[in-house]
Amino acid sequence: MIQIAIILGSTRPGRRVEDVARWVAEAAGRHPAVKAGETGLELVDIADYERPLLDEPAPAVIGAYQKAHTKRWAATTDRFDGFVFVTPEYNGAIPAALKNAIDYLYAEWNDKAPPANAKKPP
Ligand SMILES: Cc1cc2nc3c(=O)[nH]c(=O)nc-3n(C[C@H](O)[C@H](O)[C@H](O)COP(=O)(O)O)c2cc1C
Repeated sequence: MIQIAIILGSTRPGRRVEDVARWVAEAAGRHPAVKAGETGLELVDIADYERPLLDEPAPAVIGAYQKAHTKRWAATTDRFDGFVFVTPEYNGAIPAALKNAIDYLYAEWNDKAPPANAKKPP
């Protein structure tokens, strides 16, 4: 089963992103693959994963996470095959909290669902 995370990309008190993310989940829930139970959807709230500004000594691409908050966030994202980011625009960019959440990880974001024509490993 393919699992898709719908990521809430802002942490502001009174944020609108919750309503928008729920709308996205409702709309995506009408997709035939979701209705057939082939694809699952889950809301993932970056606000549920408290972490300071990036405080890992090694770049995420190395994958040598030291901090408990990084490991917890990595375990969540690694469960998913794809991501939908629901994000506002803050001063022409994504919110700093979302950028920080993304920058903590590397492998967990990449090479998730193989393309349909990908060769299966022997
Ligand atoms: C710090 C800040 C910066 C913003 N910058 C922009 C912007 O550059 N462009 C824009 O269209 N809206 C901007 N907005 C409006 C937000 O997109 C809008 O308030 C949205 O609801 C914010 O999402 P949130 O409610 O989930 O925090 C900004 C809002 C805030 C709080």
